Amino acid sequence: MHVVLVHLGILVYSSRGMQHFLLRRDWIGRIRLALTLFGIPYTVCTPGVRSALSCSSSHPFGTSQTVRPISTSYCNLYTTGVRTMPPSTVPHIKSRCPQYPGSKIKRFLVPDDKVGWSQSWPQYNPVSHNDPSVLKKPVWADPDISSFSPKFNTVDGAVDRTSFGGTYKMEKGKPLNPHGRTGVTGRGLLGRWGPNHAADPIVTRWKVDPKGAKISHPVSKRPVMQFVAIKRKDCGEWAVPGGMVDPGEQVSLTLQREFSEEALNSLAAPPSERSKINERITKLFKSLGFQVFKGYVDDPRNTDNAWMETVAVNFHDDSGNSVSELPLQAGDDAGQVQWVDVDSSFPLYANHSHFLELVAKERKAHW
Ligand code: BGC
Repeated sequence: MHVVLVHLGILVYSSRGMQHFLLRRDWIGRIRLALTLFGIPYTVCTPGVRSALSCSSSHPFGTSQTVRPISTSYCNLYTTGVRTMPPSTVPHIKSRCPQYPGSKIKRFLVPDDKVGWSQSWPQYNPVSHNDPSVLKKPVWADPDISSFSPKFNTVDGAVDRTSFGGTYKMEKGKPLNPHGRTGVTGRGLLGRWGPNHAADPIVTRWKVDPKGAKISHPVSKRPVMQFVAIKRKDCGEWAVPGGMVDPGEQVSLTLQREFSEEALNSLAAPPSERSKINERITKLFKSLGFQVFKGYVDDPRNTDNAWMETVAVNFHDDSGNSVSELPLQAGDDAGQVQWVDVDSSFPLYANHSHFLELVAKERKAHW
């Protein structure tokens, strides 16, 4: 059985065919919660929610999105189709930050017009950098490139070395950053040569007053959303509680695992509580996903030979009585965790602000 919740109504697809029932608005929320709890797949359609959505042309991350409805094993709402734009038209910025994070390394400065590899630049003299944490050969990192034979642009054993942007080029046996020069060669802080895959769960709810009514922003007049934000231990910046996809791991599992570890501190919870958290999060994440972004991330750790890519998915607790009721507790890579108002003035790590802008626009919330 699959259920489609439409504006003031419900369509039920079952072995007996499609049936349409008219409902009062306040019943929709109750039905959604019940469907979530019983694990019945459903799709929500409200007027305007399926409209096409484009990211601003000045956006520095080089992708544009069109939202379309979809049903996958983990996203029953909608997903984003990603079109990669030529790297030279929208140069990455954070990937050229003058000082490489966690080090004293100064990048070779790359002007906007020299970012693209197609621009010949014989004077380009990038600094080679591999962080000591990577050179120690931890399990999450590749060996040095000269001492193993990775299969680039393919799924190499359990390690996914494909890029969301398509086939990337190789130069002297090393992958080339598809978004151009960064002023640093090697892997820096990143474990993998080529793409390093992450996943970002964006858990949201409406901001409500003590009576449960949505609070609107005084200027935009739009309802304010809140999202679960963590303060990263590595750089002190606020971010979405994302993390790296483990070898062989499904992205859907990474989203759920990272949220549980960083925002609910599931790793420190006793086994019985951990399984309760997992059960609740599994249900929510299975039924309410909306894929916001999939592609290259303009991350300050990027180099000419290693870069971040991510999939960001929004899980929205519309009625406020699902994940909103779970107590937040920072764990793993997170120093702090809290619900934060979604607002363009709140600075966030890497391109996380862009994810929230897309979510706010899609849900017609204040930005
Ligand atoms: C973070 C993600 C982030 C990605 C790219 C990962 O380390 O955990 O939240 O989107 O890097 O910046």
